[in-house]
Amino acid sequence: MTTPVQATRDVPEFPHGFEWGAATAAYQVEGASAARGRSIWDGFCAQPGRVKDGGSGEVACDFYHRYPEDVGLMARLGLSGFRFSLSWPRIQPGGTGAPDPAGLDFYDRLVDSLLGAGIAPLPTLYHFDLPQELEDAGGWLERDTAERFADYTRIALDRLGDRVPRWITLNEPFVHMAYGYAFGVHAPGRALLLDALPAAHHQLLAHARAAAVLRAGGAEALLANNCTPVVPASDSPDDVAAAAAYDNLHNRLFLDPVLLGRPPDLSAYGASVPEFPGEDLAAIEGSADGLGVNYYNPTLVAAPGPGDGLPFALPDYAAHVEGTPVTGFGWPVVPDGLPDLLARLRDRYGAALPPLRITENGCSYPDRPDAGGAFTDRERIAYLDGHLRALAAAIADGADVRGYYTWSLIDNFEWAEGYTQRFGLVHVDFATQRRTPRASFHWYRDWIRAAAR
Ligand code: NOJ
Repeated sequence: MTTPVQATRDVPEFPHGFEWGAATAAYQVEGASAARGRSIWDGFCAQPGRVKDGGSGEVACDFYHRYPEDVGLMARLGLSGFRFSLSWPRIQPGGTGAPDPAGLDFYDRLVDSLLGAGIAPLPTLYHFDLPQELEDAGGWLERDTAERFADYTRIALDRLGDRVPRWITLNEPFVHMAYGYAFGVHAPGRALLLDALPAAHHQLLAHARAAAVLRAGGAEALLANNCTPVVPASDSPDDVAAAAAYDNLHNRLFLDPVLLGRPPDLSAYGASVPEFPGEDLAAIEGSADGLGVNYYNPTLVAAPGPGDGLPFALPDYAAHVEGTPVTGFGWPVVPDGLPDLLARLRDRYGAALPPLRITENGCSYPDRPDAGGAFTDRERIAYLDGHLRALAAAIADGADVRGYYTWSLIDNFEWAEGYTQRFGLVHVDFATQRRTPRASFHWYRDWIRAAAR
């Protein structure tokens, strides 16, 4: 057994039954793209210049074939939960009509393999990979996509619902709308700015429709969003107003309708903001049995400069807050942002806030094996240690957080960054598919063992 470079010590207590997990997503790990329908990411990756190293998810980590080895790694870690996503085009190749039995069979085998290892499956129904045919019909700008999503949810639930009691409907709808439809840096690559807002409305409706299907089948429906504590760059009224406008868009656009039954104040964004019909809001309100919180970092917000098209600017947090370390991606490392975020959620939503799970948290750093072939990722250990201690403090302070799923189990395809950002507890050599647990893998194993005592 390998000894971690850094021993876990004074591990705080976590609630009994706390879920210790790791997360991945279909397009980022599965590969086997020829065995499924096309998704918007297949076409996006094929366009020159869209993905940093020209990579794609065609092979990725070949998880489709190698999942037994990866479930073995999860078992070695002592995980009690695994968050993964189902590929809609693997289950329903064109996004409508009859399911592909081979696609369903794959998830069936995966779920059985997880359960056989004592690991609870936590599937996400949608993690950025829309069937291309639905995008051709308008994608998330079209209301009908929400209805199609409900059909797909029913198919997945019919097959797996006897073993899977809890589901995440959508992953990071804000990021999907902003990166995919407003700025075009993710698939489907549309740069519509504020005209992307229908993609918020229709994803919210899709969540609500899917939640109704899941609940009717006796399952729980969770929504996972990317949440960030928003910090004004100064206490000038302009910076404070810009921060509020950004908070409304990033955090509240998806949570307010679900938890409060109304969209946030988007008046700072002008006339292009669509109204949500009342009957949709009625369906959306109260449609989450839990929230998944993907936390990476706080966001610094300032008033826009002249010529900025949006009512905010996003200066660099680490350059502004002296002494803040950054990850390989340049993201600020701020463990205290997590309890700050959880406190804000509690203050804002009070009794309407359902149980929470940290469904993503993690970091990428460049690394090379040492002479003995080991990956000694001290920075990742420090990152995890800091965030987990901060989380324990938040829980002790009353936050109802039921689980922690680190991003990610293994290095994988990081969207527009291709394979240049490595987030895994396990290093993947993409030429050979060889998996090598990093020091953080052993550290997390020991942490879980101590925390679940
Ligand atoms: C959020 C996304 O859900 C996931 O797909 C991505 O890889 C991580 N953050 C890291 O950027």
